[in-house]
This record gives sequence, structure tokens and C-alpha cells, in this order.
Amino acid sequence: MKKIWLGSSWKMNKTQSDVVRYCEFIKPYLSAVDVELQTFLVPPFPYVKQVGSSLAETGCLTGVQNVGFESAGPFTGEISVGMAKDIGATLVEIGHSERREWFGETDATVNKKVKLSLLEGLKPLICVGDTIDEKRWGVTAESISRQVKIALHTVSADLVSQVIIAYEPVWAIGERGLPATTEEAEHGLSAVRLALIELYGKTIAEKVPLLYGGSVNIHNAKMLLRQQNIDGLFVGRTAWHPEGLLRLIRLASEVIEEQAYA
Ligand code: PGA
Repeated sequence: MKKIWLGSSWKMNKTQSDVVRYCEFIKPYLSAVDVELQTFLVPPFPYVKQVGSSLAETGCLTGVQNVGFESAGPFTGEISVGMAKDIGATLVEIGHSERREWFGETDATVNKKVKLSLLEGLKPLICVGDTIDEKRWGVTAESISRQVKIALHTVSADLVSQVIIAYEPVWAIGERGLPATTEEAEHGLSAVRLALIELYGKTIAEKVPLLYGGSVNIHNAKMLLRQQNIDGLFVGRTAWHPEGLLRLIRLASEVIEEQAYA
């Protein structure tokens, strides 16, 4: 039976009082989730500590949305992995397509950030995805394979089990995104798995949790979670309200129950 991951990045949203309300609402439900369900939240930097301490007893992990590509130095506006660790983060989101599009993130900086995070004992949550043009050209698998292989360049087999990879098609993310079909999501994630097999072999490749993200909602969540190479969901808008996260928790729990009786 596979463990299921379910988490949300709030991107650049929410105020202090929204965060208090969110955590108060969701806390009892997070405390009661099935042991096979691993939840996580990735708030904006100023709220990471608050979310972490508010949900400390629940088993929900907390992450940051980015880190700097060096461990310290003259990098105005950046936050280092050490600082992320200091504020209680255990996950580091790296390479989201919005960072690649707006903030100059490249496969090479993703690789540096992944290695720094692993050195600090933090879990990199690496995001990869094809653009709409790559999809039209039929090079989705090649694009994903390249992103995964560069992200993990010189990462040892011992450490790769700490990594999580999310396939988030650029064309599926956000207000103007079209959710991937289950087949498209599975196709993207099987390309991720294949790249991992090529790098580390099958046994190790199967230990890396693979998540799908991009317009996940309460209608497609269960179908996605039933796919062979989908170990979890990385959600934006649907989980920005705690009621939405709760509905997804319930759907994921139903899939866990189905697996138990399969
Ligand atoms: P969305 O965002 O669920 O709002 O499409 C997903 C993401 O960017 O991870």
C-alpha cells in the first residue's frame, strides 16, 4: 500500500489573521488523519514558524517556497536553507514554474538548492513541468527527464530517498490552467520515474514520492491518486481555504481505504 502525500503552497497569499483562522480550523482534522496520509503546508516565509508551531502536534510538515542558491553572502532578499531550518521548515519547495518564469530559476540553480537543502537535512520538494509548447511538440517526457536529471545531478543514491518530486505541467497551473487528465498526469510522472530509474535503478527510484500538481480539485483528486505513479497531490487554489483542504483530506482517506481493501 502506498503512502499518500497531500499538501498545499499558499504562494503569495494570506494575512496573519487568515493564517490563524486556517490553522485553528484544520488542526483537529490534521491530528486525526490516517497514518498512511502525510500532509504538508508551504506558507509564505513570514508565517512558516507560526504554522509550524500551531500544527506541531498534528504530523503536518511545514515548508518554505524557495531558498537561496548559496548558504550565505551578499544576496539581498534571499533566505538561506539554514534560515529555513531555523524557522522550523522541514520541506523546501524548489523550482516551481512561477519561480522559473518570474525569478530566473534555472535547472542549474534548482540543482544547487537541492544539494544545499539535503546538506541541511531538509527535504527538497522539486517541481518540474512541461510548457504548453513542449506538450504540443510532443517532448513532455524529454523536458521532464532533463529537469529531473539536472535537479539531481551529483545527488547520491543515499540522499535521493529524501527527495519528493512534483510534476506540475505549466499549462495546468493557476487560474488559466487546464487540469491535466489522469492519463496526462500519469504520463508525466512515469517520465519522472523513468529518469529516476536511469539515475539510481528501480529499487531506489520507487522510494521517491511523486506528486501531481496543477488545478487539482475535489472532482479530479481521487482519480489522480489512483494512478500507479502518483503518490500524492500538491495543491494550490483548492486548498487555500481550510474547508478545501479538509475535503481533499477526506478524498485521500477514501483512496487509502480503497487500497487497504484492494
Ligand atoms: P493550482 O496551483 O492548484 O492553483 O493550479 C498548483 C501549483 O502551482 O502548485
